[in-house]
Amino acid sequence: MKKFLYLAIWWTRAVFFGRRKPLQSVIFISDRCNLSCKHCAVYNHSNPQSKTYAQIREELAYCYAQGSRFVDFEGGEPFLWRGTDENGTECNVNDLCRLARRMGFFSCTITTNAQEPFDGSVADSIWVSMDGVGDYHELVRGKGTFARLEKNIATCGCKNLSANMVVNTLNHESLPAAIEYVKQSPYFKSLSVNLHTPFPGTEEMALPKALRDKALDTVLDYKKRGYPIMNSKSGLKKMRSNHFKKRCWITNFIYTDGTRSAQCIGADMNLCAQCGFCMAGEEASVFGLCPDTLLAGLKLRV
Ligand SMILES: C[S@@+](CC[C@H](N)C(=O)[O-])C[C@H]1O[C@@H](n2cnc3c(N)ncnc32)[C@H](O)[C@@H]1O
Ligand code: SF4
Repeated sequence: MKKFLYLAIWWTRAVFFGRRKPLQSVIFISDRCNLSCKHCAVYNHSNPQSKTYAQIREELAYCYAQGSRFVDFEGGEPFLWRGTDENGTECNVNDLCRLARRMGFFSCTITTNAQEPFDGSVADSIWVSMDGVGDYHELVRGKGTFARLEKNIATCGCKNLSANMVVNTLNHESLPAAIEYVKQSPYFKSLSVNLHTPFPGTEEMALPKALRDKALDTVLDYKKRGYPIMNSKSGLKKMRSNHFKKRCWITNFIYTDGTRSAQCIGADMNLCAQCGFCMAGEEASVFGLCPDTLLAGLKLRV
């Protein structure tokens, strides 16, 4: 009840009083990674940086003070992160989730490549990046990655496990198979679909307009047929038209180097016109009180 009240007050202040404060935060805890995915501009193998527990605690406190109540730990690969807590004990990303909840965050999410076992994670929900089925996933993420993903999702025991696919020029043909795979899976609850965003060095993987439209139409079609797709219809339609007022300040970001941004890095890089993050459509729909989006958001977060 307390959470619903908080969300209602936050929304009223934002819509009627023009208050621009984040509701969710993405904190990059490290850029260390065990993969070198072709679409990714985050990993840093030459000089990987990891934040300390104290730094992340301070960043969580900052986000909370801004009004944020949902946090997503990102990397690099979050399950590789290790730190030392206030008692001098070694800790991992699960301890960061516990810390966030002690501080008052409503829920904590981790996005992972599922290459390491993550049994017993205490995150409220886990997003597993699955960029197609079998060879398509491996075309983006490398040999052996799909089998490891399958093994680790089968043993993790997480109740709130979803898949996240980023559609690009290498894997777009696998989109229907990925949707079917998630529907059949006893481990995944749903699939979230995003499109490639052309960060520097990955421009050639962005879908040309016709393929982008086709991918979004495919997702909308499966969604209408009742498949477990996390994106809302309203959000997908906005992404399809690509002409809508962005509300991306709903999420704030703190990058591995400690830079704090009140909006997505895509906006900082002038990439909004080519944005593939479907969260943009979802956030705009939350603002417009689209009922299906609100329901999807509540299902995911509360
Ligand atoms: C940077 S990764 C970090 C977490 C973890 N290593 C993983 O792969 O899930 C977070 C998410 O961003 C997605 N991503 C990476 N590059 C992207 C791009 N250019 N456009 C859209 N999403 C991208 C990944 O597929 C993944 O789902
Ligand atoms: S696993 Fe995640 S962080 Fe690592 S290279 Fe792939 S997308 Fe980037």
